[in-house]
Amino acid sequence: MKRIGTYVGKQHGHPTGIVGRMVGERMIRQHVPETSWTISLLDLKMEDQVLEIGFGAGRAIELVATQIAQGHVSGIDLSQEMVRSASRRNAQAIKAGRVSLCQGDVTMLPFADNMFDKVFSIQTFYFWPDPQRAMAEIFRVLKAGGTLVVTLSTGSTRSIDDVGERWLRSYQTILEEQIIPGMKQLSFTTASIEQGPYSREFKTTAVVGMK
Ligand SMILES: C[S@@+](CC[C@H](N)C(=O)[O-])C[C@H]1O[C@@H](n2cnc3c(N)ncnc32)[C@H](O)[C@@H]1O
Repeated sequence: MKRIGTYVGKQHGHPTGIVGRMVGERMIRQHVPETSWTISLLDLKMEDQVLEIGFGAGRAIELVATQIAQGHVSGIDLSQEMVRSASRRNAQAIKAGRVSLCQGDVTMLPFADNMFDKVFSIQTFYFWPDPQRAMAEIFRVLKAGGTLVVTLSTGSTRSIDDVGERWLRSYQTILEEQIIPGMKQLSFTTASIEQGPYSREFKTTAVVGMK
């Protein structure tokens, strides 16, 4: 049973093959509340240049693209399988040149400096190999005045004795003690922690910053 749990966990961090494809579609259904909340925090403008990191099966890319008719949505995800899924979901927008998706890692973004008005990421922070380096990369690609929103779960309604609950709660401390101070060192002009809606039993939190 534990081995199955570990396998499913791995599939969330790096979906592969047919199981990865199914996990990608399931995550779309599971992440509806935090996806719409994150997009609302972005305060999108028609001409925004937007980047999503870890887009999974590409539902947020699709939602953002419909809101910025004159803008552009870029996406990067570690998983080639998710690049395929999200590319299928956004085929028309890709053909029209309004969306472009690539495979890659948050710590090495293949984008020029000062390129994006908005950068966001939903339920991927746990898998970032080096969060401080990732934040520096995001800061580099954001335009001055640009906004960052990183959304994750920092708790659940399950008992405090539950290992998963304690693991999730530890992210609140990581955000407060490492990520927010790190963002201030990088010269983000604002850096705060916002509380969002519960998604299933999970407490939703976002780090919001402006360059
Ligand atoms: C839990 S899924 C969330 C997917 C999507 N954001 C959603 O809410 O449905 C995590 C995603 O982050 C991607 N990912 C994990 N590590 C990454 C990294 N270092 N750089 C970019 N993407 C990464 C995974 O491939 C996966 O698609």
